[in-house]
This record gives sequence, C-alpha cells and structure tokens, in this order.
Amino acid sequence: MSDNLIIFDTTLRDGEQSPGASMTLDEKVRIAKALERMHVDVIEAGFPIASRGDFEAVKAVAETIKDSTVCGLARALDKDIERAGEALKFANSGRIHTFIATSPIHMKKKLRMEPDQVVEQAVMAVKKARQYTDNVEFSPEDAGRSELDFLCRVLEAVIDAGAGTVNIPDTVGYNVPDQFGNLIRRLRERVPNSDKAVFSVHCHNDLGLATANSLSAVLNGAGQVECTINGLGERAGNASLEEVVMTVKTRKDIFPCSVDQIDTTQIMNCSRLVSSITGFAVQPNKAIVGANAFAHESGIHQDGVLKSRETYEIMRAEDVGLTANRMVLGKHSGRNAFRTRLQELGVEFKSEAELNDSFARFKDLADKKHEIYDDDLQALVTEASLDAENERLRLVSMKVCSETGEKPEATVTLEMDDKEHVSVENGGGPVDAAFKAINKVVNSGTDLLLYSVNNITSGTDSQGEVTVRVEKGGRIVNGQGADTDIVIASAKAYINALNKILAPEERAHPQTGDV
Ligand code: KIV
Ligand code: ZN
Repeated sequence: MSDNLIIFDTTLRDGEQSPGASMTLDEKVRIAKALERMHVDVIEAGFPIASRGDFEAVKAVAETIKDSTVCGLARALDKDIERAGEALKFANSGRIHTFIATSPIHMKKKLRMEPDQVVEQAVMAVKKARQYTDNVEFSPEDAGRSELDFLCRVLEAVIDAGAGTVNIPDTVGYNVPDQFGNLIRRLRERVPNSDKAVFSVHCHNDLGLATANSLSAVLNGAGQVECTINGLGERAGNASLEEVVMTVKTRKDIFPCSVDQIDTTQIMNCSRLVSSITGFAVQPNKAIVGANAFAHESGIHQDGVLKSRETYEIMRAEDVGLTANRMVLGKHSGRNAFRTRLQELGVEFKSEAELNDSFARFKDLADKKHEIYDDDLQALVTEASLDAENERLRLVSMKVCSETGEKPEATVTLEMDDKEHVSVENGGGPVDAAFKAINKVVNSGTDLLLYSVNNITSGTDSQGEVTVRVEKGGRIVNGQGADTDIVIASAKAYINALNKILAPEERAHPQTGDV
C-alpha cells in the first residue's frame, strides 16, 4: 500500500488573496466544513495577524473543525506567530505555517536583509512557533527563484529547529514541470536532515503550470501538495485541488502515493460552494469541475460512451459527485426535507430564525421555479448571508421598463442608512439603468471592473447568479446576487459590492502589506 499524499487546502488563505474574493467568517466556516467532509488533511484558514476579522475566522474554523488539521499563516515575526498561536489555541489539531523570502530579489528588494539574517530569522520563527504547537511548517517564499545552495542551508536549519513540513513555493509561477520536479529531488537528496520533514509544494499558475509542477514534484518525492478549490488564488491562482486529487486517483499506475483518504464525491459540492461564495464562476471547460468536463458534444463520442463508457471517459462523473439527477426539492417540500438536504450539503443553521428565513426564501423561489436543485439551495444560503452583511444599503423594490425603440428606465427604491430613497434613471439597457439609479443615491465613486451573469442551473427559469467587481482607490471588491430575474440579480450584486466598499478595510496582505 502506498502512502497518502497530504492534501493541504489553502482556499481560505491564498484563495482569498484573489482580488475581490474576500469571504465572511460564516462563509469560511461553511467552506471549511465542506473541506472537512471531503477529508482534506490540512485546511489553511487564514492569516490571523492581517485583521481582527481574519483572526476571528481562523479561530472559528479551528474551533469548528475536528477531523482536519487547521493551519494559520504567519510571517517569520514574533507578533505574527503569537497571533497565529492564539487563533489556533482551541484547534483539535493546529499547525503554524511561517514563511520568509529566500530569493535574491526578494531578500534584497523586499526584505532588505542579508542572507545570514534571513536564515537566523527563519530559525527564530520556527522555534517560536514550536512553543505553540509541535506541528510547524516553514516556507522559503519564492523558492522557485532561490539559489539551490542557499535553499539547502535554510531548509537544513529550519528542520533542525523543529519544522516538520518544509514547503517549497513557486510563488510567481515561474517554474516548468521538469525543473520543479528536479528541484524537489535535489533538495531531498542534498539537505542532510531531509528525512526528518515532509516536503510540500505550493505552485502558482501564472504560466498555467501549477498542477503540472505540483504533480512533477510528487513524482520526485513531495509528500504534500498545497492547492485550492477551483484553482482560486493570488493572480492566476494556485494548483487546483480537484485536478491534483483526480490525477493521482486516476493515474494510480504512475504515482508513488495515493489520495484514498479524500472523498472525491464531495468535489462538485465544494467547487459550487466556493464559486457561489466568492462569485468566481468556473469556466465551462475547466478540468474536473467545469460544466463541460463530462459532457460529450460530438455524435461519435456520445455513441462511443453509450457503447462503453471507457471509450472516451477516464473518470466517472459520480466519482466527483456529479449525479445526473440532482433535483431534490420542490414547492411542496417541507421544512424538514429542506433542513435535511442542506445538512447533507454541509449547511447547519445557527438558529430557528436563520432556518425560517432561509425556508421563506426557498418557498419564494419554489413559486417561481418548480425544480430546486442543490445549486439553487447553495445560492439561497449564500444570499441569506450576503443580506446579513449588507449593512448600509438594501434593495427595497425595483421596477424596470424595457421596450423596443425606447430607452430602458429603472425605478429603484433603496434603503440607505435606514432612510428610503427612490431614484429613476435611463440607461443603455435595463441593467445599466438600474446601476445608474442605484449610484445616483449612493454616489459611490467606484469604477465597475467586471459584470458577469451565470445561470445556476439549466432552463429559462434558472436563477441568474451575477458577479459585480468594483474598484475604489485601489481597493477591489466583488458583489453577488442571485434571482430568477437577472436584472434584479444584477441590482442585488451591485448593492452587495457597494456595501462592501463602503465598509472600512483594515486588512493586510501577507506577502506585501505592512501590518
Ligand atoms: O505563494 C507563496 O509563496 C505563498 C507563501 C506564503 C507560502 O503563498
Ligand atoms: Zn501562494
């Protein structure tokens, strides 16, 4: 029997570093529970020193999750490590992940430190982290562009200091598979105490090679892969969890390890949940979780698959949790059926009031749409939590007129700081008119960077899930909304984004920000 490859999910930390992908505490706990149900080994829940919100989220995840190890990120600084230690105090199994850059360019330009100082600080950080937990991970940031001899020196020192996992990040996604695999092999051969630590990899996708690089590392002895659901992450993202896991599972003949601990049937649920919460739609042709990943368009393929599935399919759709009939509830379903199905999807209501609110939303939706799918339910719960975070602005009602040959007109009633405003505007289309009417009240000073609509399920009665990205003074946020009427969904998404941009930001970025 081969060893399990350790799956370390960083959707809640690196994934959240995607512009606009910030998540609330409740959303993070929801995703963490879904990851736990998938039996992910380690969940990196955030960067506790970044803000009070980040600290509370890591703490809440640490207190909720029992089966997976919960990890907090910390720069190689005392104050970061203390904060991470505090956030993880009540974890069943907690890990501190500390890092410092080791590439010549990062040491010189970003840290303004000499290599000797970097080694000293790395060792100090690992020793400090060991005061809180035996489970310490160290990353030499930008390892992919670091000098081999120096990397070996740093790794030997931190392993001696007590790091049980050494993670090799290709921070800027610069490496190619052969090179990165060789790097891992050489490090394992050359670092004298390499047998005392698990070698991990953390690859970014700037050249589209994150999964390939990670897997090449596994073939060369990496025992842990850091990855994210849907490949979310800083810039072009990280290696995608579903791609790494399904490749190792499907190509058992090639890999020296297995992922038998992972319940792959939870993959689709996690993917949809993350997409619904972050508003980052999954491209249709995305491997494993894209809408077309198991669809056969051409007649020849369809014929082949019907005769024998293996002619064109290397994985079973059921293995990633894609079941043909996902319709679960309808107009006549009761509260118990509703609550039970959501529990199966990993959603627990904190109070009867929360359940009642979501159930009322479900009944409204069932009036407009006969068949309620899992994805509708996830969107509904997401919407309830979005409404809870919409603190200053709320959509009261809206009327939009569209007529051939006429300019669309939107009349929007908006509650802003507990006062109702009615605003009327014309626009190039109904969405444009609605956004103009909203902005006439809010006067937000934001630029619209992205507007996208996705249907949650198929059919013309499907809910449209809208993502809106706005920017103000360099700060970027995403807003989301869902409704069977896509103009209303658009207004909800815009209002959600404006609520977020109006809220004060107190959060720092682990790799660039000062804290
Ligand atoms: O990309 C990176 O180098 C990171 C580290 C903090 C591990 O995210
Ligand atoms: Zn990263």
